[in-house]
Amino acid sequence: MAASAPISRTIYTGTFVHSISLTELEICENGAIGVDRNGIIIFVERELDLEAVQEKHSWQDATPVYLRGNAFFFPGFIDTHTHAPQHPNTGLFGKTTLLDWLQTYTFPMESSFSDLKRAETIYRNFVSRTLSHGTTTAAYYATIHVPATNLLADICLARGQRALVGRVCMNSDISPEYYRDMSVSQSVADSKASTDYIRSIDPKGSIVRPVITPRFAPSCTAECLSEIGKLAKEEDAFIQTHISENKGEIALVKELFPDSKSYTDVYDTHGILTPKTILAHAIHLSNEERKTILARGSSLSHCPCSNTAITSGCAPIRELLDEGHTIGLGTDVSGGFHPSILENVRHAIWTSRHLALQSDLGDKAKLSTEEALYLATRGGAAVVGLSDKVGGFEVGKEFDAQLIDLGSVEAGGSNDTQFDAGPVDMFGWESWPEKVEKWVYAGDDRNTTAVWVRGRLVHRTSRFQEYQANGTATP
Ligand code: GUN
Ligand code: FE
Repeated sequence: MAASAPISRTIYTGTFVHSISLTELEICENGAIGVDRNGIIIFVERELDLEAVQEKHSWQDATPVYLRGNAFFFPGFIDTHTHAPQHPNTGLFGKTTLLDWLQTYTFPMESSFSDLKRAETIYRNFVSRTLSHGTTTAAYYATIHVPATNLLADICLARGQRALVGRVCMNSDISPEYYRDMSVSQSVADSKASTDYIRSIDPKGSIVRPVITPRFAPSCTAECLSEIGKLAKEEDAFIQTHISENKGEIALVKELFPDSKSYTDVYDTHGILTPKTILAHAIHLSNEERKTILARGSSLSHCPCSNTAITSGCAPIRELLDEGHTIGLGTDVSGGFHPSILENVRHAIWTSRHLALQSDLGDKAKLSTEEALYLATRGGAAVVGLSDKVGGFEVGKEFDAQLIDLGSVEAGGSNDTQFDAGPVDMFGWESWPEKVEKWVYAGDDRNTTAVWVRGRLVHRTSRFQEYQANGTATP
């Protein structure tokens, strides 16, 4: 579906759940969130019934969206690192690790995006797919091709998904001849062309913004990194890249940049580390590198599904949080095998438990459910520079939300149609914290019944349409 503008102001009533700090979730059972025609949250009530809310705010004309049963509003997910053109390879990685994975799977797939028709099919599919998993904001890597990159931005804007969209910059000879920028000047000119285009279609950057995207240190020459760093500064743009993902990659960086103290130092000395830089993976950083990243104010994208799939390692997220790093979650499709941030919430928790089992830190390495949900929403919002706009339900923020409906087990317990409501079985005795926990550990996109960005409905399932046809928004 194309994003549809809200026809009137809306009061979303029922249970809402969001993070109020790194360690705390608020579950408000009788909530009412008033959203104006621009998608801005005008009020949040926690106690009043709908009539009292309408009266208090003189919003009698507002459209109510009611939730009942095991349904709740949750902030939209933020995917701080993903590769849209790699989506056809989602779930495919064989026995590879990073460097052979790039040559075997990734470069051949990405190079095919010179074909704009093919790009269109894949990008439309991926944006729909991520929206259907509740991703309301994504930081996308595209390919080296300007037309296909611009098309990805067009699709995000049309579908109403917030996005950072980056043309991938890669000029060194570790990339195959058939898929690389032919010169530094071409790298810079093409990145600038794409940046200009994305700013022309959304001048205020309300939905789509450009992001300067040097792929990773090995795929850029020193001169290219410096020039692209300068471009990001001139454009006051976000930067995204990969860092310290795989031990073979770190050894390669050492070989290619022998005068640099570390992987982080390569970026630091070429103007790549800024408060608007998103660094994906950050698994094997030294203490000194972590301090440099903190000092520059750059942020981190944790990609646990990818880190396990292509056997990169376990990022010490608990420690990095304690040190004060800004961190969000990334699916890193298709190093990551799943387009869902919920899946990455679970894997962030599992990874931290594996670290707890293996390291001297013990339980101190563990991430809690609350912390992982924070990374998926407010943490991600901070990473992409949207803390003031999204990530939670507060007055003045924009309404980016998912309607999570867990369904319920009917009498008899084996009605096939109730399985359409997803894999979570709700028996009626669960407390609200237990309902949320069941969703986190066993839920999937079947539970994501509707999704809004800035108050615009950008995804809905047929179940949501049925509820609307019945005159209520939910069962
Ligand atoms: N390092 C350089 N390019 C890539 C990529 O496409 N995915 C991942 N996971 N790491 C990279
Ligand atoms: Fe990646």
